[in-house]
Amino acid sequence: MINPAFTPSSDDLALLEVKDLRKVFIDRDFQTPVLKGVNFTLQKAEMVALLGPSGSGKSTLLTILGTLMRPSSGSFNMLGRELTTLKEKELSNFRNQEIGFIFQYHHLLPDFTALENVMFPHAGRLWRETRVGRERAAMLLDRVGLKDRMNYQATRLSGGQKQRVAIARALMNQPALVLADEPTGNLDRENADQVFDLMTEIQRETGTTFLLSTHDRELAERCQRRIYIESGVVVDQPVPRERTISAPRTGLRVIDGDAPSVVDRTSTTDRDLQRRA
Ligand SMILES: Nc1ncnc2c1ncn2[C@@H]1O[C@H](COP(=O)(O)OP(=O)(O)OP(=O)(O)O)[C@@H](O)[C@H]1O
Ligand SMILES: [Mg+2]
Repeated sequence: MINPAFTPSSDDLALLEVKDLRKVFIDRDFQTPVLKGVNFTLQKAEMVALLGPSGSGKSTLLTILGTLMRPSSGSFNMLGRELTTLKEKELSNFRNQEIGFIFQYHHLLPDFTALENVMFPHAGRLWRETRVGRERAAMLLDRVGLKDRMNYQATRLSGGQKQRVAIARALMNQPALVLADEPTGNLDRENADQVFDLMTEIQRETGTTFLLSTHDRELAERCQRRIYIESGVVVDQPVPRERTISAPRTGLRVIDGDAPSVVDRTSTTDRDLQRRA
């Protein structure tokens, strides 16, 4: 039976809490303070734009949140784990399971096929390929509209197609958070819209949170929320609307206006994606 709708506490929906995050790049005697005390939170199943002028620290912040670089100080806690204190091995396991990346220049492996690129986060550097991994990668490529390009080498795909492969790859391990650094920055208007629409649809289907940096105001306006950063500090982050959830035990259903998202990643992601495939 479906439980009646209720308003969740912030704990139910908390995904990421960033507190006083700072980064100073040190090069010999020269210090460049870039992040100067960043604070914000992300909830589960959100589509959030990160906006700010060039050089304001967006890429630096995303790289730190992706655990690819350590901050100088401050903390960030994801799914109840304090990531600044984790050892390298634990951190890389956590990153592999919970965080997906989409970059402006896709970063696909050029000699590998689209399918192999998507399988990569699952197969790992030692390439432990499994049938389940291959099937999931194929299903994701189908979902992003590239069923007929699965066996094409990455270099033989267009810019928009490469970015769609990158989206599929980011989702391979069913992460809780996808960090996207100007994912449409290299695309023309039409492809940018398509890639953005695809990310939005997948975000709604799977309940994955997306944090994406962009200079594209039009796309940012279509996100559920916007965080503005300037000179290394958050200058504005409008408060999110109150969210309602139904069926909290059987797969949280988050309702944001007309944009429902399913948060139970383990039970719903594949089924939803398969249904659409
Ligand atoms: N390794 C580094 N050493 C020193 N300074 C750095 C380093 N990496 C980045 N910076 C500086 O940090 C600042 C923020 O850079 P960052 O790439 O995070 O900005 P951004 O907001 O992503 O800009 P853009 O919109 O142009 O991509 C810049 O002034 C840059 O010069
Ligand atoms: Mg950048």
